Amino acid sequence: MDIRNKVLPVLRPVGGVEETNALSDVIDSGWWGKGPKVTEFEKKFADMVGAKYAVAVTSNTHGLDLVLKAKGIEHADVISPTMSFATTAIAPLWNNCTSTIVDVEKDTLCIDPLSVKENLSHNTKAIIAVNMAGVPAKIDEIRNFYDGFIIEDCAHSCYTHGAGSKGDVAIWSFQAVKTMPCGDGGMITTNDKELYEKLVPMSWMGISSTHERTKNIDGKPGYSWDYDIKLIGTKSYMIDIMAAICLEQMKKLPNNLVKRRYIQQSYNEQLNSLLEIPVWSETVQHYGARVKKEEDRNKLMDYLADKKIHTSVHYKPLHLHTALKSDRSLPVAENEWKKLISLPCHPAMTQKDIDYVIYWIKEFYK
Ligand SMILES: Cc1ncc(COP(=O)(O)O)c(C=O)c1O
Repeated sequence: MDIRNKVLPVLRPVGGVEETNALSDVIDSGWWGKGPKVTEFEKKFADMVGAKYAVAVTSNTHGLDLVLKAKGIEHADVISPTMSFATTAIAPLWNNCTSTIVDVEKDTLCIDPLSVKENLSHNTKAIIAVNMAGVPAKIDEIRNFYDGFIIEDCAHSCYTHGAGSKGDVAIWSFQAVKTMPCGDGGMITTNDKELYEKLVPMSWMGISSTHERTKNIDGKPGYSWDYDIKLIGTKSYMIDIMAAICLEQMKKLPNNLVKRRYIQQSYNEQLNSLLEIPVWSETVQHYGARVKKEEDRNKLMDYLADKKIHTSVHYKPLHLHTALKSDRSLPVAENEWKKLISLPCHPAMTQKDIDYVIYWIKEFYK
């Protein structure tokens, strides 16, 4: 097979004329900040994932920071898994917490309830359970021995049934290469009214929505300029420019999920004798396969890069990064991550692209 000219990315967003038109409408409307598009998106998203309340934010990262602040979690211990993006370990540090990074389960790479149990302390105020690649973390098992606050990190959750329903809050991501991307954005969903009522003003310094204040108030027309800051917040609300893209991506989500599943099934069927396929093959955010022999991983990545196929690793365990190092060894993550390889998986891929990836992986193993 000929080597292609153009690189095949491991992840990428796909937009079209719908997103362009939606953006153009927002620009023409004269309201670019947090306004009607954000409200519409929050309502539709809450309905889609079955939550009572939703607060749209600039990113999952700032959503997590906001939740910790709204819950008053500071100078406490927050437990999170080592197989994750930096956010889950670092946002607690911004709040003067200790980040206790724990091990994951071998099959799913989700947080291991046993490792959580071993690392609980009298000062544990939150556990962050990441649905790794979209696979549900075992939050029910953690609830058997821990009755505190649980944050369900849904950055990778691909809107499969039940995603986001196990934690006290769920935090989602619409970052540029996620399943429903808008460039950068996030959502906090919860059924906790009290928390919701704090999160909304705290997403803008404690100030009530400007857009709401442009509506007629008490029957009087005009702009009600005055506000009172009752809470100290951050600046982390989503703006209409991003929400407009999210709303269009949301309409395209069902088709995009069909495409993703097709790619995943094709890999599963064609590569299962060569690679260990991901445990949850229905819908994953990134297709994180594992090589059978650790020493093959980098060789395979280099070989595919030569063929213009980009691959990645989700993730190098967080506790192996210089700034997050600890003395504790986390043996499952330390063994498994060296075998991980994420293959291209996104709705822009054509049948030719899928066949191309499969062909070169088979060639590598010949
Ligand atoms: C597991 C996990 N949590 C949190 C985040 C942070 O999301 P965001 O980029 O929206 O801040 C990511 C991003 O990749 C992630 O993979």
